[in-house]
Amino acid sequence: QTSLKDAYIDAFLIGAALNEDQIYERDSEVDDIITSQFNSIVAENCMKAENIHPEEDDFFWEEADAFIAFGLKNEMSIIGHTLAWHSQTPDWLFVDENGEDVSRDVLLERMQNHITTIMQRYKGKVKGWDVVNEAILDDGSMRESKFYEIIGPDWVEKMFIFANQADPDAELYYNDYSMAIPEKREGAYALVKGMQDKGIRVDGIGMQGHINLDGPTLEAFEESLLRFAELGQVMITELDVTVLPWPGTEVGAEVSMSVEFQDEFNPYRNGLTPAVEAHLHKRYVEMFSLFHKHADKIDRVTLWGVTDANSWRNDWPMDGRTDYPLLFDRANKPKPFVQEIITIT
Ligand code: XIL
Repeated sequence: QTSLKDAYIDAFLIGAALNEDQIYERDSEVDDIITSQFNSIVAENCMKAENIHPEEDDFFWEEADAFIAFGLKNEMSIIGHTLAWHSQTPDWLFVDENGEDVSRDVLLERMQNHITTIMQRYKGKVKGWDVVNEAILDDGSMRESKFYEIIGPDWVEKMFIFANQADPDAELYYNDYSMAIPEKREGAYALVKGMQDKGIRVDGIGMQGHINLDGPTLEAFEESLLRFAELGQVMITELDVTVLPWPGTEVGAEVSMSVEFQDEFNPYRNGLTPAVEAHLHKRYVEMFSLFHKHADKIDRVTLWGVTDANSWRNDWPMDGRTDYPLLFDRANKPKPFVQEIITIT
């Protein structure tokens, strides 16, 4: 019985995001899954600015170093995530000692230092970086983040220029979610194409892949994949399939944690129904069939986690749910469709 990574060896890398537990606590069953099934890893949290650079003069390297050491030891392709993102980023970056916004020049200098220090530490060890994460909104316009407000619309290209200077040999990616939405697809395409036309290096686009049982459609996903492939390599960077209903109406909506609410939005806390299980099975198989069909355009497919037990989906967009988004279950066993995903190749 072959593994995922071996089955897809001629198609694309098979990756997993590693979190704190998997980096620090050596659980031999989980380790076994990671090293036998995957040939690439990405940092789920430990390289985000708030973790790795909590204060201007303080870098916290311990966890990221351990993550890198694990990848090197197991000869995996190591991916860095992420150098510039509006979320999980400490406030000190944006404000001066009086709490006022810093100038464009100061923020650029701070970000250049941030990017250069991190990339140079891991030079030659990291295959590629999600340089900028989530800069575009679903309607295709630019997100009005602190980076956008203080630096202006050219903030994204500045990050890629800094990254290229810091490590000309590392691959540089633009990464975002909901990339199958047509307006967002075109917004991301235009952003990356605009940079490339100016001679700024962007090697590939990451489509996060936090999907649900029915959306996005395969057709919409495929259209984006083909569109992005015009610009470079495509990666599915954060694949997971939630089986749970979205609790609020808007993204980020404040969600009440009343018992009724939890029950209503946590329907599978005692296990999946056979119907949902079959749906998840079908969804994963059709997604991997699509990826395999376009293997010449895809460099890597990364799952956002290893087992359901510690997927972020249990806690997002509300805490304390029981979700089933990944390929391995809470008992560290492959789900029945893993074998089918393997046989696609
Ligand atoms: C998530 C992590 O999985 C969680 O552990 C953390 O609490 C929040 O961030 N898009 C991204 C990822 O690019 O970095 C996010 O990861 C999930 C959404």
